[in-house]
Amino acid sequence: MIKKCLFPAAGYGTRFLPATKAIPKEMLPVLTKPLLQYGVEEAVSAGCDTMAIITGRGKRAIEDHFDRSYELEHQIEGTSKETLMTEIRGMISNYTFSYTRQVEMKGLGHAILTGQTLIGNEPFAVILADDLCDNDEKSVLSQMIEVYEKNPECCIVAIEEVPKEETSKYGVISGNEIAENLFKIDDMVEKPEPKDAPSNLAIIGRYILTPEIFEVIKNTKPGKNDEVQITDSLLTLAKEGKVLAYKFDGKRFDCGSVDGFVEATNYFYNKG
Ligand code: G1P
Repeated sequence: MIKKCLFPAAGYGTRFLPATKAIPKEMLPVLTKPLLQYGVEEAVSAGCDTMAIITGRGKRAIEDHFDRSYELEHQIEGTSKETLMTEIRGMISNYTFSYTRQVEMKGLGHAILTGQTLIGNEPFAVILADDLCDNDEKSVLSQMIEVYEKNPECCIVAIEEVPKEETSKYGVISGNEIAENLFKIDDMVEKPEPKDAPSNLAIIGRYILTPEIFEVIKNTKPGKNDEVQITDSLLTLAKEGKVLAYKFDGKRFDCGSVDGFVEATNYFYNKG
């Protein structure tokens, strides 16, 4: 049912400077795989076959990564290193990668709207690759798609409990628990100070969106940090009872921060 996954990847990654001066932050590796490749794996595990990637200036390495590299392949052919490329080569031949550029950085809502040309008029998933999620049994996106299939009129956001003092890093929701781990959202606020946060349930970088979101984004005024926030657009739909929050099962690392990145690296290294 959900075939396309959108990856907003135009941001500058300023928290990782100088590493991200010439390398897109989505290409920073956890062990030997770039963050974005983990995201693509998750989308594939959930049944997506088209990756719609929102890039920007200085992000060409992303397109090169998801493309054949004949010279390199020729160089390692028949050596023990050949297997290191098996996974990425499989992705390249089995799935579609399409791109469009976000020319100005006007927020996550604006980035998603930029992707309308790649998505068209169908429900789609969104993965923010710097939220790295892991669940061996069922990926977080697969869990969300199951929720969506039972509620196809709704958008779904992934949530996690965070310490109250950290609410200013996230979109924060409040709502009624209508089933185990599933909330009907009545309020959502982008990056509130703890005293203004409606709860400690934070939005994590996984969304299932219905195509009606595009018109809503077009009518959403810039909010926090003077950017068009997807949280604000979703609030409009939440007021019509059309947004659910799903408390997912699995681990999640904030690879947009140095601490989270180191934690993820240790976790995947120890996992083997
Ligand atoms: C974005 C969203 C925010 C969400 C977060 C999850 O913020 O705007 O609502 O909680 O992703 O990672 P960003 O981290 O891109 O500033």
